[in-house]
Amino acid sequence: MTKPNDRWNARLYQEQHQFVWQYGQDLLELLNPQAGEVILDLGCGTGQLTQALAEKGVRAIGIDRSSQMIEQAQRNFPDLEFLVADATNFSLPMLVDAVFSNAALHWIPQADAVLSCIHRVLKPGGRLVVEFGAKGNVAQIVAAIAVGLEILGKPRPHPWYFPTLGDYTTRLENQGFWVNYAMTFERLTPLTNGDRGLENWLKMFTQEWLGDLSEEEKKQLFQRVETQLKSTLYDQGNWFADYCRLRIFATKF
Ligand code: BEZ
Repeated sequence: MTKPNDRWNARLYQEQHQFVWQYGQDLLELLNPQAGEVILDLGCGTGQLTQALAEKGVRAIGIDRSSQMIEQAQRNFPDLEFLVADATNFSLPMLVDAVFSNAALHWIPQADAVLSCIHRVLKPGGRLVVEFGAKGNVAQIVAAIAVGLEILGKPRPHPWYFPTLGDYTTRLENQGFWVNYAMTFERLTPLTNGDRGLENWLKMFTQEWLGDLSEEEKKQLFQRVETQLKSTLYDQGNWFADYCRLRIFATKF
């Protein structure tokens, strides 16, 4: 059986979802990487932000649970270090100065296990800089899919982890982090590929949630979702995703 993480299509991700790492550039500024530091890029996908770290003179190590993503990352940036690793259960041969993660942690509901691994690999005083989906993230898209699943007679909850700021910062404090900065914000995000933007997003990101639906069921569902969301998430030939982000800067004490 194909595991959900093997269903990732690294090429579709890289070619049509560049906005994921383009928004991550902003998060790099918050991290403020310094030459000579060792920094872990957790959930590195196809490696573009790992490379951006390396360009700052950092020894950057990228990990991702998807072997397809890591293979693509290694093809893109053959000189960098990439590893297939499970964020809930990983270790490194060295301690790192910082852990950075953009748009990855909402894939992993076992937040405490992830934070425990991160805490273990950080040097004392090491930084954790993350951004991912907060409570309310893609709420309109999720609601439209839920309606479509009801109509198909196949309801089920979405698989993502979108915590509140209070929930996540409490977990951080319980795991031994000092939370220096935390915020949530809405970011209506333009999707790539004009009229096909939402369909592309759905094909890329709902594979785990809707993996057991037939191609015909998915086609019907996606059309229904587009019809339902056209008045709110479509404007002048472009689709948007109703992202809400949680952005954190914390340090290990
Ligand atoms: C996000 O980046 O917010 C996201 C991506 C895929 C699925 C759900 C959320």
